[in-house]
Amino acid sequence: MPDTSASAPLRIAIAGLGTVGAGVIRLLDTNRELVAARAGRGIEVTAVSSRDRSKDRGINHQRFHWEDDMTALAQRDDVDVVLELVGGSDGPALALSRATLAAGKGLVTANKAMIAHHGLALAEKAESLGAPLKFEAAVAVCIPLVKGLREGTSANELTKVYGILNGTCNYILTEMEATGADFAETLADAQRLGYAEADPTFDIEGIDAAHKLSILATIGFGTRLDFASVRTTGIVAVRAADIAQADALGFVIRLIAEADVADGKLLQRVRPCLVAKDHPLAPVDGPTNAVVAEGNFSGRLLFQGAGAGDGPTASAVVADLIDIARGEVGAPFSMPVGQLAPLGAEDPAERLERTYLRFTVNDRPGVLAEITAAMRDADVSIESLIQQGRGSDGGEVLVAMVTHEGPERSVAKALELLDGSESLTAAPLVLPILPS
Ligand code: NAP
Ligand code: HSE
Repeated sequence: MPDTSASAPLRIAIAGLGTVGAGVIRLLDTNRELVAARAGRGIEVTAVSSRDRSKDRGINHQRFHWEDDMTALAQRDDVDVVLELVGGSDGPALALSRATLAAGKGLVTANKAMIAHHGLALAEKAESLGAPLKFEAAVAVCIPLVKGLREGTSANELTKVYGILNGTCNYILTEMEATGADFAETLADAQRLGYAEADPTFDIEGIDAAHKLSILATIGFGTRLDFASVRTTGIVAVRAADIAQADALGFVIRLIAEADVADGKLLQRVRPCLVAKDHPLAPVDGPTNAVVAEGNFSGRLLFQGAGAGDGPTASAVVADLIDIARGEVGAPFSMPVGQLAPLGAEDPAERLERTYLRFTVNDRPGVLAEITAAMRDADVSIESLIQQGRGSDGGEVLVAMVTHEGPERSVAKALELLDGSESLTAAPLVLPILPS
């Protein structure tokens, strides 16, 4: 059990001395007195573990006890709380987390993959032993979203939660928008700046945002964690031409994560969307995250701030430590795991939306007629249509269209009708338009 007596320092062990772990040590060194004053007692690192002891991390970690085997941190008598800052949904991170809670110690983690997959089992263990389990940094780092939904909006029935939950994708999309830089180049920058996951496909395929969304949905709606049912599309198919086309139509492109509950079913989706330039999410740029939560008494709330990086993530990790030092335990997902509702996942086929569709086609007579016939046969009503890029001898052109509002299943049907068409030179891109 953590020593929560008023004067004893809270003793912590850190597993993982990468971007986040080193950031936590820097923050605790820099803000030591302020943190102690807010926590009501000191917070002291006693032991650390990582793979390579001799690596230069820009911090002095040689002053702490070193464990080669990170799970040994959970057994140390001089540790009240373990910080799991390694990453990965399973493997050493999960073994350490289980060992920490089994030992009755507090656990703080920034690991959304692990919480999305194993959060309920970890929370059940924590609840059974009265041990604190905190993961503010796992969702939109220092933006107090976990706290905001767990505490700030806890008196509300939430109707909807949606927004930008991946800093890497937002950085890539907005850099492409501002500078015309290409995808690979901006992804490499995001990795160098410490925004991306160890495996950046988690970012660009939308999986990281899906991890975070499933955690928020659980806290916000009181439903059981259901990462497997998040419908996820990443940003890899978005081209500079789509960003330019969206701009011409009065939109920007953002990776949007959204969840709501309707008729007793949970819908969770992560998709690149067209966002109108006057929407509050449109100006959100760089690695910034922004999330809208709508409550039946609170109305619409907008949470916004840094969504990745060493300092902002360390800020959230240490805020969790301060809560633990103050003696705050509470149910990790706002209500005890046994009370979370097991809702089924909604099939969104009948949901209405406007859609942007982009086709790359061979420029020859009849191609437009073929596409528009598929739209007609699937009952998709076209609001506007633009063709770009005719070369002197035909070649590939881009056909972009915006549909009137209609059910998702109609657009899916039109794409099915066009599947295998020799007129199309690549898979079409479908981007929903975010309602205002
Ligand atoms: P990172 O820079 O790759 O650091 C990971 C650390 O874990 C490294 O120090 C590495 O050791 C250590 N490690 C990996 N495998 C290990 C093993 N088997 N045994 C011992 N140590 C091991 O990653 P990060 O960006 O700090 O991310 C850490 C966690 O925070 C992840 O769950 C991530 O999703 C989450 N997170 C990151 C951010 C962000 O902006 N970076 C934001 C929010 C949440 P060595 O250095 O010795 O190789
Ligand atoms: N890779 C994550 C992102 C880090 O880019 O949002 C913050 O969770």
